[in-house]
Amino acid sequence: MLRQPLLMLARSEHVKNAVSRMPVSSGIVHSYVPGETTEAAVEATSRLVDDGLVVTLDYLGEDTLDVEQADTTVQAYLDLLEALSARGLTRKAEVSVKLSAIGQFLPEIGDKVALENARTICRAARNAGTTVTLDMEDHTTTDRTLAVLRELRKDFPETGAVLQAALHRTEADCRALAHEGSRVRLCKGAYLEPEDVAFQDRIEIDKSYVRCLKVLLAGQGYPMIATHDPRMVDIAGSLASRYGRAQGTYEFQMLYGIRPTEQQRLADTGETMRVYIPYGTEWYGYLMRRLAEKPSNLSFFVRSLVSK
Ligand code: FDA
Repeated sequence: MLRQPLLMLARSEHVKNAVSRMPVSSGIVHSYVPGETTEAAVEATSRLVDDGLVVTLDYLGEDTLDVEQADTTVQAYLDLLEALSARGLTRKAEVSVKLSAIGQFLPEIGDKVALENARTICRAARNAGTTVTLDMEDHTTTDRTLAVLRELRKDFPETGAVLQAALHRTEADCRALAHEGSRVRLCKGAYLEPEDVAFQDRIEIDKSYVRCLKVLLAGQGYPMIATHDPRMVDIAGSLASRYGRAQGTYEFQMLYGIRPTEQQRLADTGETMRVYIPYGTEWYGYLMRRLAEKPSNLSFFVRSLVSK
């Protein structure tokens, strides 16, 4: 019931300005975001890698209409890749990038700027010995994001994509991307989407997730199974066996701070378990999407605001 209003608030500049002065260290924010700085992100990475997990890092930010802000985000990724490299972590850690954070929404020049900026990050990742995955935002960006992916993959075929099971189109997108060399993260989808493009019922989304899993696991690419849902994790495990997939030919992914015991359990059974670490000061939209998935956390959030 609270999902819709929380996802609408995720896009509200007023509420964002009111709450995002709160430091990351406070209450609920800290449970999902380890810190604001490159150092904090690298420290969190190092701890997880020591425990046998792998990582993808997201410098928080989205929907920018400001070229300088987009440049700042690109520079943050370059600094991060350098810091990961200096600590010998790039075999275990890659980066996730939202195109709207690096210019996709700039009027007229958005796609061109986002592509060039993504190229710069992919080049730095390649030089550091790691990869980039393009996060997927709401359905209005899907075609544009997949077009940027196609261009990037001409020079950086290792670049990964994200597909969202909530969208009607996704099973077909999975078929198109289940080819050799392709890396696809399958998630349920975190955005508020209209019913002409997306399933609204959670059971329908789960059924779509399973159909998409089958396509990806039966295909030739590298599926990245991003879910905290115990049923989806079990089904993915069974399907991986059914399609003769050995451990390491696919991976599980979960978000930092969500079901850490399960993350460790999967890693301990020999699965590749990648944790998505968001960091930085622009945590507002990310946090609101996490609260929408787990509204029971809302009371912790309100308490941290009140005790600010
Ligand atoms: P579901 O929401 O059904 O949750 C299953 C169970 O997981 C819950 O019952 C609860 O136990 C636990 N859980 C889930 N969310 C929680 C929370 N916030 N706090 C505490 N417990 C929680 N989306 C997108 O649109 N574009 C993207 O690029 C990405 N990228 C991405 C990367 C990775 C690594 C992950 C894991 C997820 C994403 N997502 C995403 C988010 C994804 O679309 C989805 O919104 C969330 O993963 C929640 O869906 P679940 O599959 O976990 O199932």
